[in-house]
Amino acid sequence: MKIIRAKNYDDLSRKAANIISAQVILKPDSVLGLATGSSPIGTYRQLVDWYNKGDIDFSEAKTVNLDEYRGLPKTDPQSYDYFMREHFFDHVNIRPENIHLPDGMAECPDSECTQYDNIVKSLGGVDLQLLGCGRNGHIGFNEPSDFFAKGTHVVDLAESTIEANKRFFTSADDVPRQAYSMGIQTIMLARRILIIISGEDKAEAVKQGFFGPITPQVPASILQLHPDVSLIADEAALSLCSL
Ligand code: GLP
Repeated sequence: MKIIRAKNYDDLSRKAANIISAQVILKPDSVLGLATGSSPIGTYRQLVDWYNKGDIDFSEAKTVNLDEYRGLPKTDPQSYDYFMREHFFDHVNIRPENIHLPDGMAECPDSECTQYDNIVKSLGGVDLQLLGCGRNGHIGFNEPSDFFAKGTHVVDLAESTIEANKRFFTSADDVPRQAYSMGIQTIMLARRILIIISGEDKAEAVKQGFFGPITPQVPASILQLHPDVSLIADEAALSLCSL
């Protein structure tokens, strides 16, 4: 595991965008696994900026997102589909047919999960997976659990995640209780993983996830077993780790 120390959120965002940009330049038809949340917003902003300057071309790239709230339509501003369009897809030349997210409104959750796994497989797997990390160590929406989930599945969101994500909604009551999430096996099969973590409130998750035992109670800890994972964290997120 490579640990890349960033001065702050802006520095972290530039470093992450540099890695994604290099991936797409080296392999224009890369399959990018993408994440939502506040962590990657600066990364997407930087990529859009470089796209506008003509430095990066997404016309052949394909994307698969990690997760989506169950029960929110794409038109809901809190859906991850909406988030991705707002922060990234609408501002670059990714072809709509190359964009994939779980459908939060799917009628049959089981077949939606199977179908999503099949999409990832049919694309040949993920070349570079971008991840954020929850305060409880979740990745995607893989919450602390007694086991690591393999493929795409429906998750009951942890109270702490509902609490953490309520800032995006009118109240905690409006946060969906379930979500679709790519499984840990799919994430671990990505050829490269880039995880970005910012802020003091994530310091414990960094300590437990990257310097503690590997356990499904801290889902990010499984990343310690991946052969090509880069953690970009700012000073605040690394404050509990003596490096
Ligand atoms: C959300 C998302 C994750 C994200 C995490 C951290 O619930 N499902 O993919 O990485 O929580 O979010 P943030 O970056 O806003 O702290």
